[in-house]
Amino acid sequence: WTATRDKSCKLPMPKGSMGFPIIGETCHWFFQGAGFHASRRQKYGNVFKTHLLGRPLIRVTGAENVRKVLMGEHSLVTVDWPQSTSTLLGPNSLANSIGDIHRKRRKIFAKVFSHEALESYLPKIQLVIQETLRVWSSNPDPINVYRESQRLSFHMAVRVLLGFRVSEEEMHCLFHTFQDFVENVFSLPIDLPFSGYRKGIRARDSLQKSIEKAIREKPLHTQGKDYTDALDVLLESAKENNTELTMQELKESTIELIFAAFATTASASTSLIMQLLRHPAVLEKLREELRSCGLLHDGCLCQGELRLDSIISLKYLDCVIKEVLRLFAPVSGGYRIATQTFELDGVQVPKGWSVMYSIRDTHDTSAVFKDVEAFDPDRFSPERSEDREGRFHYLPFGGGVRSCLGKQLATLFLKLLAVELAGGSRFELATRTFPRLISVPVVHPTDGLRVKFFGLD
Ligand code: HEM
Repeated sequence: WTATRDKSCKLPMPKGSMGFPIIGETCHWFFQGAGFHASRRQKYGNVFKTHLLGRPLIRVTGAENVRKVLMGEHSLVTVDWPQSTSTLLGPNSLANSIGDIHRKRRKIFAKVFSHEALESYLPKIQLVIQETLRVWSSNPDPINVYRESQRLSFHMAVRVLLGFRVSEEEMHCLFHTFQDFVENVFSLPIDLPFSGYRKGIRARDSLQKSIEKAIREKPLHTQGKDYTDALDVLLESAKENNTELTMQELKESTIELIFAAFATTASASTSLIMQLLRHPAVLEKLREELRSCGLLHDGCLCQGELRLDSIISLKYLDCVIKEVLRLFAPVSGGYRIATQTFELDGVQVPKGWSVMYSIRDTHDTSAVFKDVEAFDPDRFSPERSEDREGRFHYLPFGGGVRSCLGKQLATLFLKLLAVELAGGSRFELATRTFPRLISVPVVHPTDGLRVKFFGLD
């Protein structure tokens, strides 16, 4: 709570409130969710100060301001997660690495998400989605979509990405431990028995133990391009870059990948299902596109092998996924720290202050999107392409050198889910009205979204 202004800079400090000592405005943030930042932005402007998760923070909204922060990596800012996040993800994670080490690690990871690698994961992702939808459809009761989507994205990450062959029971335990981990990644860094932080540390240690066991028992396939999973690609890529990954690095990378994929993909899957329910005309247009490409015949998806290129060629599907990620960006923003005092929107960001750039608020307030609150996938059509005005108006995956590494994988996963939903499922809302959304830690419906799935008639 000690951060102060840079007296050598003539510019004023951003407006805002620092809340109570130690906890600052953390409690307001938890309880108010998205409303917290929106209300302060309206009161204090696009750049305001607050105090969250144990430290003073400057929150930044608006394409031009965000561009300056994201493109200022190394010169103006560097990465700075809350202490709980840094400790739980570990020193070898991408989130915690900077400069050359970060660049080198990203280079090794890039191959995990290459076109070739994605092509090899595609049939397995499709299978996991199909199996999940079959289970959802055979359940006589409505499904809690958000909770089950978390399970789906966890299965995708553990089975498809990491290739772990664990029993259902082990998977169940791993999932619950992982939920404890995720729930406490953003917690006050107070290490006391029963604190969220301590719970998170215990969950991390237990996950690392299980992952080490799974890695040691896992048959590795690192010959040729016929990858079986992302872990194989990662090991091969490390070798090509003359690097040996230690067991500790592998464990931390594995947890980081599952963490990065887990809540984000579950949130986006839930938002996708909700929007398809809200907008039957969009669902019908998706079906029309599948029919016109020969992927849907007599109401059934063609069982032939789906290729990455055919998924990429579905233009309307691309618009739908983009629009879901614009209106319901799962990640609200990213954390940085100012490495020198700089100007933003007429105020100073003093050296040493934490900076959080905003994704969701930037989307919500961007002037380039017409009727910004409407769900309108066609705004991304080649004729309209409202996002062409500049990439920092639309940034569900962040931007600059720390943009999302799993962007293509996440998009592929969401597209495959939409194809299966449009082509092979019947589903309807099981409640009278659509639920309210909350945005901490990621966007999700208050009741999880209750939906009855029927499968095909
Ligand atoms: C980083 C969003 C899925 C891996 C990021 C960032 C955002 C983001 C906004 C940048 C954070 C920052 O600037 O600090 C999303 C969304 C997803 C998604 C919206 C799903 C819809 C995934 C998946 C993976 C992944 C499936 C991998 C399996 C990563 C990694 C980083 C990252 C490793 C850190 C990159 C770095 O620090 O260099 N993601 N993500 N993400 N994402 Fe994703």
